[in-house]
Amino acid sequence: MKFLIFLGTVRDSTPPKPARLGQRVSNACIECLVSQYSEHEVELIDALDYPLESVFKPHFSYSKGKAPSALDELAEKIELADGFIMISPEYNHSMSPALTNLLNHFGSSLFSYKPSAIVTYSAGQWGGMRAAVGMRTFLSELGCLSVSAMIHVPKAQDVFEADGSMVVGEDQASWFDYFGRTFKQLIWWAQATSDHRTEVDPHHVVKDFKKTPSDRNAP
Ligand SMILES: Cc1cc2nc3c(=O)[nH]c(=O)nc-3n(C[C@H](O)[C@H](O)[C@H](O)COP(=O)(O)O)c2cc1C
Repeated sequence: MKFLIFLGTVRDSTPPKPARLGQRVSNACIECLVSQYSEHEVELIDALDYPLESVFKPHFSYSKGKAPSALDELAEKIELADGFIMISPEYNHSMSPALTNLLNHFGSSLFSYKPSAIVTYSAGQWGGMRAAVGMRTFLSELGCLSVSAMIHVPKAQDVFEADGSMVVGEDQASWFDYFGRTFKQLIWWAQATSDHRTEVDPHHVVKDFKKTPSDRNAP
């Protein structure tokens, strides 16, 4: 199966130090997935690679064929993926604006009926868990419901080096075991939803709203 790893930080200046702590966390997630779940494919989607237009215009607001090619290409990747790993720092007890902004560019029909896994981190002691709680609501609205286990990395700068390798003294096996609980849930759900999507097309059973969210309103 194919999983997209969204990295939600575009901060490349300090203070606070270090900048782009998230790159360490995404590198560690990739190392864990590639070494332990090599039958699956993973691709990093780094919010820093998407300097999207300053006036907000989501992918679905363009007429067909008129969207910027970067948006079209990412939309296709999301549509083809079987699941998502969403990595976010905690900014003011919330998920990062960079990840929110990137995900807001795409309609829920691309994400729906596939699972997601939440990975948060911070330089402080709580590992971004307050952001993670809000991410559940956000990802549910996108239709890629998050698995119950989550990954939180407190003081990520003390755990991972810049390349994602472990700081001396940290036990990689224990960390990957901890990561594995979430990744195994994600893979199980991704397989289950993939199998069922081939039997029953959810977009056929539940129509996506086309013009306005009020299409879903109570009578
Ligand atoms: C605007 C801003 C708000 C922050 N808010 C929190 C917070 O609520 N909780 C926390 O633990 N750390 C917070 N931090 C510290 C981050 O955990 C730390 O800067 C981390 O390096 C951010 O990840 P990044 O470097 O990948 O962007 C905040 C940092 C910034 C820049």
